[in-house]
Amino acid sequence: MRTSLTAPAVRSRKVRDGREPLVMVTAYDAPGARMADEAGVDLILVGDSVAMVVLGYDDTLQVTVEDLAHHTGAVARGLATSDPDRSEKKPLVVADLPWMSYHTTPVDAIQNAASLIRAGAQAVKLEGGRKRLPMIEAIVDAEIPVMGHLGLTPQSVHAMGGFKVQGREHQAAMALVADAKALEAAGCFSIVLEGVPDEVARMVTDAVDVPTIGIGAGPGCDGQVLVFHDVLGIEDRILPKFVRRYADLKSASVAALAAYAADVRTGAFPAAEESYHLTAEVAETLGLYGRPDR
Ligand code: KIV
Repeated sequence: MRTSLTAPAVRSRKVRDGREPLVMVTAYDAPGARMADEAGVDLILVGDSVAMVVLGYDDTLQVTVEDLAHHTGAVARGLATSDPDRSEKKPLVVADLPWMSYHTTPVDAIQNAASLIRAGAQAVKLEGGRKRLPMIEAIVDAEIPVMGHLGLTPQSVHAMGGFKVQGREHQAAMALVADAKALEAAGCFSIVLEGVPDEVARMVTDAVDVPTIGIGAGPGCDGQVLVFHDVLGIEDRILPKFVRRYADLKSASVAALAAYAADVRTGAFPAAEESYHLTAEVAETLGLYGRPDR
């Protein structure tokens, strides 16, 4: 049976120690998880970005623990049925703790993290720096691996005044380094750095012994993460500077659906070989003998 990459194994993946950069991609359902696995990624993030790229919301604040557990379960089931013959380990599944699921009490935070683990995740991710330390410590104490998330933290969209690059000024850059060290000391096994200048991401990466995983944070991190729908060009309305599209599945999908619609309208689909048929004997008893297309 194929085993998964583990949080302790991810924790040791510092590029400065000669390790390969970590590859993380989001996925929200079973086919997405199987594709990510077959592509050989190290980690799957069941991100709260599901709110924006799948559920049609304008921000990530609208999804709940139940929503994330629903998608985490689908990802876990997809991986359970993914190619058993591959020699590589399965990706580690990290589920996002959504907004307000870890902002009240440590007990709430542990219970919500446990819901995501029971749904099939092997670790949880949460946003924020030193303010979140009691929650991080509580979840880690409950034996649940925690991934931190610093910089542009989308759950703070209103507090930040929009989705804005963070850490551009001296004080803000130093605060990010201090936050990363605090997250590491609290037990985070890795830290996502989102929307920060390359130079600041390098400072943070140098300052901690856990791997940093960047998105819009330049090439100096210990790994990279992108959103599934961005990598594949399924989401084509916005193209942030940090996204590289490796396919144009939106155009390919629209063209395929339009071809299907045209074939239905002209009668070209379904063809005889795409239909079920009676035997000639049964057709004859029904008076259908000799009908065209039989
Ligand atoms: O929800 C998400 O997709 C994320 C990544 C952008 C890191 O948090």
